[in-house]
Amino acid sequence: MIRVENLVKRYGNIVASNNLNCHFEKGKVTVILGGSGSGKSTLLRQLTGLEQADSGAVYFDGVNLTGLSKKKLYVLRKKMGMLFQGSALFNYLNIFENIAFPLREHTKIADNIIKTIVTMKLEMVGLRGTENLMPSQLSGGMMKRVGLARAIVMDPKIIFYDEPTSGLDPISTGVIDKLIRDLNKTLNITTVVVSHDIESCFRIADNIIILFYGDIIASGTAQEIRNSKDPRVKQFINGDPEGPIPFTRTSKNYLDEILID
Ligand SMILES: Nc1ncnc2c1ncn2[C@@H]1O[C@H](COP(=O)(O)OP(=O)(O)OP(=O)(O)O)[C@@H](O)[C@H]1O
Ligand SMILES: [Mg+2]
Repeated sequence: MIRVENLVKRYGNIVASNNLNCHFEKGKVTVILGGSGSGKSTLLRQLTGLEQADSGAVYFDGVNLTGLSKKKLYVLRKKMGMLFQGSALFNYLNIFENIAFPLREHTKIADNIIKTIVTMKLEMVGLRGTENLMPSQLSGGMMKRVGLARAIVMDPKIIFYDEPTSGLDPISTGVIDKLIRDLNKTLNITTVVVSHDIESCFRIADNIIILFYGDIIASGTAQEIRNSKDPRVKQFINGDPEGPIPFTRTSKNYLDEILID
């Protein structure tokens, strides 16, 4: 569904995407794992066409997003759903209007149909009856579920989640994880999740990509990653403070050293 080729993105001296090659399988859940500053959000922004790469290509259903006109990108982005970090709900709109927002923005669908669609999506995330509440009246977990309902309101082919469970208690995390899986299965939506939560990752992932300061240090099925003998992968998934991956960003020399296989 998405193929990334030789993707490079720099911010000054920082190489946020260092010649990345990877793909995101249709109908599967792929989790992008990595520590803070490893380039997860940068990769996600490039996958959605929100940001242009310095070089390389992102193919979405065979169409190269890099260099695409704004208008074509706009059309393509209607097929994508996005759950932003922190839910990004509009505080001044009630739950109904938050979810209806993309439909009002992008379509001319009549009010009574919008009502049916919004009710259906709220039902899917287990929040039917909250239409008239304001975001400030919801818990963090409920807000993420509203964000999710909004992300699927246009029936996307693919959905991107940036840290969907950060800041949630274990039960709410479990609820969101289950929702991500259920939506992936029932609606057959290709799913990309950015996360640094290992437990959550193994609960939902078919495939996993591990980033480390701009490089992909591992990619494969959840099973392959779990059984990996690579010391960097083992350190990452066990959360060991000691090992080949340094705790802080270090010199490029050191990085080169540990990236030699
Ligand atoms: N717009 C920007 N301008 C300058 N530097 C940036 C910008 N966006 C990201 N960076 C830098 O690129 C690197 C990767 O950042 P990114 O936000 O992709 O990391 P991340 O893996 O999402 O981290 P986190 O888990 O903390 O969200 C970081 O060193 C960051 O400082
Ligand atoms: Mg990020």
